[in-house]
Amino acid sequence: MIDINEIRKEFPIFENMKSKTVLPFAYLDNAATSQRPKCVIDAEMELYEKHNANPLRGSYPLSIEATDIYENARKSLRDFINAASEREVIFTRNTSESINLVAYSYGLKNVNEGDEVLVSILEHHSNLLPWQMVTRERNAKLKFIDCENDGSIDLNKIEELITDKTKIVAITQVSNVLGVVNPIKEIAELAHKKGAVIVVDGAQSTPHLKIDVKALDVDFFAFSGHKMFGPMGIGVLYGREELLDKMPPFLSGGEMIESVTRTGAVYAELPHKFEAGTVNAAGAAGLDAAISFMNRIGYDYMQERELMLTKRGLEGLLKIPHITVYGSDKAENHTGILTFKVDDVHPHDVSEVLIADGIAVRAGHHCAQPLLNHLGVNSTTRASLMFYNTEEEVDKFLESMATVRERMGYGK
Ligand code: ALA
Repeated sequence: MIDINEIRKEFPIFENMKSKTVLPFAYLDNAATSQRPKCVIDAEMELYEKHNANPLRGSYPLSIEATDIYENARKSLRDFINAASEREVIFTRNTSESINLVAYSYGLKNVNEGDEVLVSILEHHSNLLPWQMVTRERNAKLKFIDCENDGSIDLNKIEELITDKTKIVAITQVSNVLGVVNPIKEIAELAHKKGAVIVVDGAQSTPHLKIDVKALDVDFFAFSGHKMFGPMGIGVLYGREELLDKMPPFLSGGEMIESVTRTGAVYAELPHKFEAGTVNAAGAAGLDAAISFMNRIGYDYMQERELMLTKRGLEGLLKIPHITVYGSDKAENHTGILTFKVDDVHPHDVSEVLIADGIAVRAGHHCAQPLLNHLGVNSTTRASLMFYNTEEEVDKFLESMATVRERMGYGK
């Protein structure tokens, strides 16, 4: 039986809030970045304190230890997403870099004039701008699949939009604005039927959903460590080995080669071909610890709590007059994300009122401007929940929300 109060004690930031070393805040901005348990912070520190040398280079013990820690993290990640081999797991800095790798390496090589790349309107700019670049450079066409009113994607419409010219379908698994979960397996099947590859942005899904890249049958899957209890500055790109094998390097330089002459180079085998320069071994160690932490807690427990908290938040918001919540009216379709507007009050002012009451949320366009345009707004306020949030925090948020209009000089 897991006790959430005991779990929260594993997070130094929550303990520091209790002892007021850090200002107490109900942290409801988890979609931006999660908080980290001590085991993650310790794992990073331990690499530097006990095993620090440049990984993959020296043959003395410290360097071998750093290499082992780094490569063991890769094996944990392979198991975490059920990749066929650790050669399919590339370490990057974050989701944006992972998607850029695919765009620059696979995209520029495989998308030609007149071809099409299909993205959804739900995309974070990270999974949009790289495809704008590819289609612009290659004189290809960037197409969009819009979402329905509840944020869902209609499979029939997407089937019509994927044509023989479509080379890439780039889509998020979970929207960072609406929390809606896309049917990736079905979309992958539709893409593959037309010979396209599918690139999935998993930044918002990995913290909440069990990922199995084989079962989803995806070609590329990108995610970040910092959104799933891991460190900032470490991310992952999963790629199908037969595709990665044929792709040119994204970045070149140190450590990604077998041999170099004055005029050329033989590149290293996978995955190192895609990891130029000194790697982030401490970040990988921290991410490995984050995976162990998640395995110990289990997705079942996390999901059960997140749904309970989301339901409480959504039902509470819907009871307050003058609030519009975007996306589905069902909590189970929100993956912990509640994006809303208060009539007459600017989303940044809503956020300021919440801050005054010790509640951290995000306001703005959430790096998803085309989606906000589609929803008919310039900006919104977003509360995003993690399993470690509490009912008290959600209630505090709702109490504060009920006062926003009055405090901003409007009626209740
Ligand atoms: N992509 C992060 C968010 O949605 C930063 O807030």
